[in-house]
Amino acid sequence: MDLRNEVAAYLQDFTYIEDDINGSFFSAADNTTKIETILIDGRNITKYVNEFWTSRQRQASSIHEISYRACFKPQLPRFFIELLSDVGDIIYDPFSGRGTTVIEAGLLGRKVVSNDVNPLSEILTRPRFTPPTIEDVAKRLSRLDFDNTLESEIDLSMFFHERTLSEILSIRKYLCERKESGNEDGIDRWIAMVATNRLTGHSTGFFSVYTLPPNQAASPKSQKKINEVRRQIPEYRDTKEIILRKTNSLLRNLTSPQKANINAAGMSGLFINQSAAYTPEIAADSVQLTVTSPPFLNIVQYSKDNWLRRWFNSLDDDEISKRITMAKTVEEWSTAMGSVFHELYRVTKPDGWVAFEVGEVKNRTVSLDEHVVPLGNSAGFECNGILVNSQEFTKTANIWGIQNMKSGTNTNRIVLFRKKK
Ligand SMILES: C[S@@+](CC[C@H](N)C(=O)[O-])C[C@H]1O[C@@H](n2cnc3c(N)ncnc32)[C@H](O)[C@@H]1O
Repeated sequence: MDLRNEVAAYLQDFTYIEDDINGSFFSAADNTTKIETILIDGRNITKYVNEFWTSRQRQASSIHEISYRACFKPQLPRFFIELLSDVGDIIYDPFSGRGTTVIEAGLLGRKVVSNDVNPLSEILTRPRFTPPTIEDVAKRLSRLDFDNTLESEIDLSMFFHERTLSEILSIRKYLCERKESGNEDGIDRWIAMVATNRLTGHSTGFFSVYTLPPNQAASPKSQKKINEVRRQIPEYRDTKEIILRKTNSLLRNLTSPQKANINAAGMSGLFINQSAAYTPEIAADSVQLTVTSPPFLNIVQYSKDNWLRRWFNSLDDDEISKRITMAKTVEEWSTAMGSVFHELYRVTKPDGWVAFEVGEVKNRTVSLDEHVVPLGNSAGFECNGILVNSQEFTKTANIWGIQNMKSGTNTNRIVLFRKKK
């Protein structure tokens, strides 16, 4: 792959400098990129600010459209995958979430390794490597009988109509029995993934009455309040129809070559549920590129936000909560991420890359990107700069039915490291 041509095609405004004396990665060929050099950890680190992706790149595949807290847009990993790896290379995400990096890597013909301490990540990610046809899903659902005598062990009447709940319980029981008997197949896993995604949300495309967006389950107490304020009671929702509709939507623009690529990536892929700091399943010196976004201090409550999704999949709440990194201070966070960088160094190929995405926290008073540089350096990596993808947006926020035009800037900060030969 000729990196210069690749980059030129992507970023008409940039020139790529492979190994310039400052260790810089891009240099601006026009004035659109803001460049700033800052001293971090005793070294000059260059920050490049521009809209590197999103509007300049083609649309993302519909197969990505599964919601997850703090997920990134597929254009982010695509930018680095196309730039820094070749077909057949291994792409890794140690904090995989809904699997944005690995799905995009699979679509692009790369091999994948996906890890997340939360088993929900694999439930949401893996089935999309073997997408069934809509006919397969319809046939399977038509054979699934609903049992209206089933009762939930917890009160979920504030979310679901009684009939909807008995359908959800029947699907849950069916999936559980298939798994326990060893008969679960790709179609069952697909149904589990879609149903998990459709449990609760803010439109009629979900099983629940109007509630928080699907990646943020409200507590039963808050849901009762929402129902009171909105004067709503859960109406019946046809779960099979909703699963089919979402399946159609996920598959709507997946091309045959993409399907072949993603299937192959799923067959050879490694999917693990470990702490990112300890992944002995991954061979040393094997990963060409890691594109990842870690948990940021304790601002996202992955455990709390996913309680209903975990209930549906019969996952142990306490066990997962204990394993998820929830650092309260930058120091605690740096200690946890320092161990992750040591493990990343072990698994990265000589000359391979790590693109580590962090946000701004505490009302932009903490720039985690600057805290990340010394962590990578002390693990043995060389920092090649910080890319700040800055994108202006205006969007309609619809919260509790109130329409509201919001404008602002989305930024992704990616610290780029290379393992020297
Ligand atoms: C910012 S999210 C990643 C989102 C992902 N980039 C996506 O697009 O969906 C961070 C993820 O890290 C996981 N996580 C938290 N602590 C972890 C740990 N110690 N090891 C591995 N994964 C962890 C969380 O479960 C969560 O899925």
